[in-house]
Amino acid sequence: MIRLAIITISDKASRGERDDAGGPAIRESLASLGVAVTEVEYHIVADDEHQISEALFHLTERPDVDLVLTTGGTGLAPRDVTPQATLHAIDYEVPGIAEAMRNASLQVTPAGMLSRAVAGVRRGTLIINLPGNLKAVRENLGAIAAALPHAVGTLRGEVGEHTRPQG
Ligand code: MTE
Repeated sequence: MIRLAIITISDKASRGERDDAGGPAIRESLASLGVAVTEVEYHIVADDEHQISEALFHLTERPDVDLVLTTGGTGLAPRDVTPQATLHAIDYEVPGIAEAMRNASLQVTPAGMLSRAVAGVRRGTLIINLPGNLKAVRENLGAIAAALPHAVGTLRGEVGEHTRPQG
């Protein structure tokens, strides 16, 4: 069971001017992809680099969070700062996760290359940026879901280096 924290990153959702679409999309997608998670935290924060980094620092200090999924703020607009905040927080990148997401997204839409999503690890917790819209969340999670239990198991020290995920 993966212990999951969700951070929705959106100025409008943080001010209550729009419903959060990304958070519910993450829950639905993981359920339909058969990834077993327990949600331990859910935050909505503004598109503010400092606030995002603080949320990431805080969540990765906790021993009971295996995976942080962020949604939103990965594009090219001036307020899209999720990747910068994530790079600031992580100890090291896991570039294959972002590569897999962009590769899969490009099969669906040329706009897939416009997500600057980053994945990496801080203090044994995996952080993955997802885009903001519902369809993009589904498609990006679909590309990486099969590797998530293995990644988390490795970080927890439960999976040997030479075992492979099924599939
Ligand atoms: N990836 C997939 N699979 N499907 C999509 O529809 N939308 C793209 C891209 N990645 C999309 C996608 C678009 S339009 C943008 S602008 C970027 O993700 C960044 O989205 P964000 O700013 O909401 O994070």
